[in-house]
Amino acid sequence: MKEVSDTTVLKKIAGTAAADLVKNGMTVGIGTGSTVAFFIEELGRRVREGLSIYGVPTSYQSRLICYQQGIPVRDPAMIDGIDIAIDGADEIDHDLNAIKGGGAAHTIEKIIAAMADEFVLIADSSKLVDRLAVSIPVPVEVIPAALSLVVRRTREAGANPKLRIAVKKDGPVITDNGNFVVDLYFSDAPDMHKLDYTLKSIPGVVETGLFIGMAHKALIAGKEGLNMLTAGRLS
Ligand code: A5P
Repeated sequence: MKEVSDTTVLKKIAGTAAADLVKNGMTVGIGTGSTVAFFIEELGRRVREGLSIYGVPTSYQSRLICYQQGIPVRDPAMIDGIDIAIDGADEIDHDLNAIKGGGAAHTIEKIIAAMADEFVLIADSSKLVDRLAVSIPVPVEVIPAALSLVVRRTREAGANPKLRIAVKKDGPVITDNGNFVVDLYFSDAPDMHKLDYTLKSIPGVVETGLFIGMAHKALIAGKEGLNMLTAGRLS
C-alpha cells in the first residue's frame, strides 16, 4: 500500500475527521488555516444534509468559507458559550501545548478556544515536536504604537523580534483586529510559561501565539493513520 505522506492529504484527513466531533445543535468554534478549511468544507457538506449548528469563526478567512459553505455564523461577543472549538496549529508538543498565529489569527483563536467546553487541535504529524519554538517563532499581536517598546523588551527577554511583513501588500501584516504581528525567534527553546507571562506584561501586547494548557485533544493525521491525543487542560 502506498504511504500517505503528502501534507495536504494529511491535513484533509484530520480536517474531515474532525467533523465527526460535531453533533446536532452544537455551537462550534471554527479556527483558521489550511487544515481548518478542510474541516469547514466537510461541516458545510453535513449542514447541507441537515446538520443544525452555528459556527463561530475566528477570522475573516474562516467567516468567508463558512458563508460559501452555507454554515450559519454567530459573533462570539453575542453568545454565552461554545460547545466545541476546532483549530489548527503551527507546532504542538506532547502535552498539547501549541504555537499558533502563523496566519496572524491567534488572538481571536485564543478567545474562542477559551470560550469552548472542549478545544481540539487538528494537524498533520509534521506539527508534533518535542520542544516548541526551536524551529518556528512565537507570534505576538501588538498595537502599532507599541512596536518599538515590544522590540526592546522582547530582545531583553532573549528573543530576536521581527515585524511580520506582508506578501502582496507593502509594509507590515495587519491583523483582522488592525494590529501588527511581531515574530519572536529564539536560539534556545524558552520556558513557555515564563515567556507567556513576560510577553503579556508588556504594554501594547494584545495576545501571544502560545496556547499553554488549553487543548483537551489533538487529532493528528500521519502516515500511520489518525491519532487522537489527549491532555489535561490547565485553563
Ligand atoms: C492562524 O493564525 C494559525 O494559528 C493557524 O491555526 C495555523 O497556522 C494553522 O496552520 P495550517 O494552515 O497548517 O492548518
